[in-house]
Amino acid sequence: MALAAVVTQLAVPPFYVYHFIIFMTFENIEPARIKSFVRRKGRVTPGQHFALENHWERYCLDPKMDVNFADVFGNDAPLIVEIGFGNGDSLAKMAAENPDKNYIGIEVHRPGVGHLLMKIEEMQLSNVRIYCHDAIEVLEQRVPNESLAGLHLFFPDPWHKKKHHKRRIVRDSFVELLARKLAPNGYFHAATDWENYAEWMLEILNRAPNFKNLSPTQTVCERPDYRPLTKFEQRGIRLGHGVWDVMFKRV
Ligand SMILES: C[S@@+](CC[C@H](N)C(=O)[O-])C[C@H]1O[C@@H](n2cnc3c(N)ncnc32)[C@H](O)[C@@H]1O
Repeated sequence: MALAAVVTQLAVPPFYVYHFIIFMTFENIEPARIKSFVRRKGRVTPGQHFALENHWERYCLDPKMDVNFADVFGNDAPLIVEIGFGNGDSLAKMAAENPDKNYIGIEVHRPGVGHLLMKIEEMQLSNVRIYCHDAIEVLEQRVPNESLAGLHLFFPDPWHKKKHHKRRIVRDSFVELLARKLAPNGYFHAATDWENYAEWMLEILNRAPNFKNLSPTQTVCERPDYRPLTKFEQRGIRLGHGVWDVMFKRV
C-alpha cells in the first residue's frame, strides 16, 4: 500500500512517520552547488569604469538571454571559451593572434571585465565577447551542446586547503558538463601553478570516459605557443612557482 494511504489511515501518525516523509522528500534534492569563487570587491579604475559604462552593451552578453553565437560574431568560426580570464590580457592577446577563431570570456570579477573591455576597444578586437557571470551557469544554460572547439581554464583558484577542495571548479560534474559542451575532438586546456591541483585534474579527467590525455607522457604538457603567460602566472613565476599545463581531447 502507498505510504500516503497508510498515513491517512492513522488518526495521528507517529513521529517517525513524519520524520520518514521529510527524509524522503529532501533526500533527492541536490544541495545548492558550491561555487568556485567568492566575489571580491576590488577597485575599479577610472579607465575600467569608463569601459564598463561605455562598451558593456557592445561586448557583454546577457546570461539570461538566449543567443546564437554565429549571429553575435557574424560568422561561425570555431568557438573557444575561457573561464576566469582575470584581467583578460592573455585572452586579448590570443584573440588578436587568432582572428580566425571566436572567443567567449567568462569572469565574475567586474574590474577584470572592465580591463578586458578596454583592451577589446584599444586592440579593435571583433572576435571577443564577455559574460560577467558564473561560468557554470553560462555553460549549462547558454552554450549549446557539442558547440565548442576548445575550453581554456588558466590558473583557476587553487583552493589550497583540503577542506576547501570541494570549491575547486574542476570536479566530476564539471568534466561531465565539459564533455557535453565540447564538440568531438574539441580540447580542454587548463594550467595551474599548484602541483596538487594539476594532479587532481589529471585524476578526474583520466577517469572520465570521453577524454584522452594529449600529453605524450600521459601526464602534463609543455605550455603550447598559443598560450600567452597570464598575469597570475607571471606573479607566480616571480615567486618561483612551477607551472603545469593539462590538455585533454574530447573523443
Ligand atoms: C586565480 S584567478 C586567475 C585569473 C587569470 N586566468 C590569470 O591567470 O591571470 C581565477 C579567476 O577565475 C575567476 N572565476 C573563478 N570561478 C569562476 C566561475 N565559476 N565563473 C567565472 N569566473 C570564475 C575568478 O574571479 C578569478 O578572477
